[in-house]
Amino acid sequence: MKETGQLVADPDDPRLEPYARNPEAAERVVAASFIVGILCLAAFGAAYWQAASEPYLGGFMAGGMFALGFGFTAWGKYLMPRGPFEEARHSLARPEPERAAFQAAIVDRGAVAIGRRPFLVKLLGVAGGIAGVVMMFPLLRSLGPLPKHSMFTTGWKRGSRLVTARGRPIKADDLEVGGIITVFPEGHEGSAQDQTLLIRVADSAITTRPGRETWGPAGYLAYSKICTHAGCPVGLYEEETEQLLCPCHQSLFNVLDAATPVFGPAPRPLPQLPLMIDRDGYIRSQSGYLVPVGPGFWER
Ligand code: FES
Repeated sequence: MKETGQLVADPDDPRLEPYARNPEAAERVVAASFIVGILCLAAFGAAYWQAASEPYLGGFMAGGMFALGFGFTAWGKYLMPRGPFEEARHSLARPEPERAAFQAAIVDRGAVAIGRRPFLVKLLGVAGGIAGVVMMFPLLRSLGPLPKHSMFTTGWKRGSRLVTARGRPIKADDLEVGGIITVFPEGHEGSAQDQTLLIRVADSAITTRPGRETWGPAGYLAYSKICTHAGCPVGLYEEETEQLLCPCHQSLFNVLDAATPVFGPAPRPLPQLPLMIDRDGYIRSQSGYLVPVGPGFWER
């Protein structure tokens, strides 16, 4: 059947699929597909939040995408106007009877016509909203826990006793000049954020910065072990030159002069921990670090 000027098709046209002749049934199929898609995506979000295993996540996501895709396809195939449509050349001004016929065709429930389908549109909106929300879950969870104050504070505080990774307290006569050991505040053994290098140097060789006169008792100096460039552990000590070397990008820090960088990309000194020796000979911190440890991305 050939129509002119009307976006309609003959329901009896043998080229039409069964559902195209029955738009109500097609609407129900599309709506059911969208609802299944919404449920699958919501289930994916819940499963992701509960850290379910990959087969569940993959199954729900695949089911949701398949159902939505099926619904879109069915909508386009069975509910949209079907061609071919042909329109004879004519003057732009349509005669009144033709306009009336077109209007009648639009609202004619017996024909496949362009019509508003608010229920399907709403379902589509819900599906899109849920898909958008659940897609954010992996992104948010992959960012890991919030650092909160951990970037600005450490386990060191006033009076913390310096201990080894195994918890053995350090006494003032434990290291010879030239000795070095990694220490932690008592109770935080093994903490990456708190790891600190304790180095003993000749007392007279230290270049004391104003305000740090008491920070290095008996030649003991303590610096954060976390490189201020990219956070690698600064583990190599050259006793001859009194320098600490970061193996990642070869930054060198002057141990005798407040761990100032003398070579490499490190932008600031290793933070120094103020030390004191208590009456029993144990080395303790006078306070926590006064500046943040680690990479200097917060350049101040
Ligand atoms: S991390 Fe130490 S120099 Fe780059």
